Amino acid sequence: MKFNHELIEKNIGLLGIFTVLVISIGGLVQITPLLFQKDTTEPVKGLRPYTALELEGRDIYIREGCYNCHSQMIRPLRAETERYGHYSVAGESVWDHPFQWGSKRTGPDLARVGGRYSDKWHEVHLIDPRAVVPQSNMPAFPWLADNKLDGQHTARKMTILRDMHKGENNGKDLYSDEEIANAQKAVEGKTEMEAIIAYLQSLGHALK
Ligand code: HEC
Repeated sequence: MKFNHELIEKNIGLLGIFTVLVISIGGLVQITPLLFQKDTTEPVKGLRPYTALELEGRDIYIREGCYNCHSQMIRPLRAETERYGHYSVAGESVWDHPFQWGSKRTGPDLARVGGRYSDKWHEVHLIDPRAVVPQSNMPAFPWLADNKLDGQHTARKMTILRDMHKGENNGKDLYSDEEIANAQKAVEGKTEMEAIIAYLQSLGHALK
C-alpha cells in the first residue's frame, strides 16, 4: 500500500489520530522546557513567604471566591503594565498552592494591589464597596469584620508549605521551627478582615 496524503485525508479516523498526534507534539515542545526552566520554577529575588496572618488571609480570599472576579496576573501588554505595574512572572507565585492567576476580570487585577490603598480603605471597601466606589458592583463582605480566627490549622499549613519547598527561601526553609511554634499565637483572636487585608497588602511585594 502506498502511503500518501490521500490515504489520510480520505480516512476520518486516521486523520483524527494524526491530528491529535501532531497537536500533542506541539504542546509538549511548548510545555516541557517550562518545567525545567529556572525562572519558572524558582522564586524571584525578593520573594518572601507569607506570614501566618497573610496565609490565613489567602485562604479566606479563596473561600470567599474573590478569584471569580479578580485575576492576579498582569499580562505583558502596555495597557496592562501602565495600569497595574510590572507584568507578573511565574517566580512570584511558586509558593502559591493553588496560584490565583485567573483570567476572569469583573473587577481589576489584584496582582500588585499591595500598598495601593490603606488598610482602612480596604476595610471600608470590603464592608461596603459602594461607600468608597459609588458605581461598584462588588458584593459586600461585612462578616469578615466579625469572624475571628482560632489559628488551629495555621501551624499545619506552614509545615506543609515548608516541607514542599525545602531550602527554597535563599537556601533556608520557608518557616523556622520558632515561626511554626508561634503561628497560632500570631493569628488567634485576629479578625478575618485583618487577615485578608494583610494578604492583599502583601500582593506584588517581590517586584514593584
Ligand atoms: C462579583 C465580582 C466581585 C467579587 C466576588 C469580588 N470583587 Fe473585588 N471588585 C469587583 C469590582 C467590580 C471592583 C471595582 C470597583 C470597586 O473598587 O469596588 C472590585 C475592586 C476590588 C478592589 C480594589 C482594586 C483596585 O485596584 O482598585 C479590591 C482590593 C478588591 N476588589 C478585593 C476583593 C476581595 C478581597 C474579594 C473577596 C473577598 C473581592 N474583591 C470579591 C468585583 C468583585
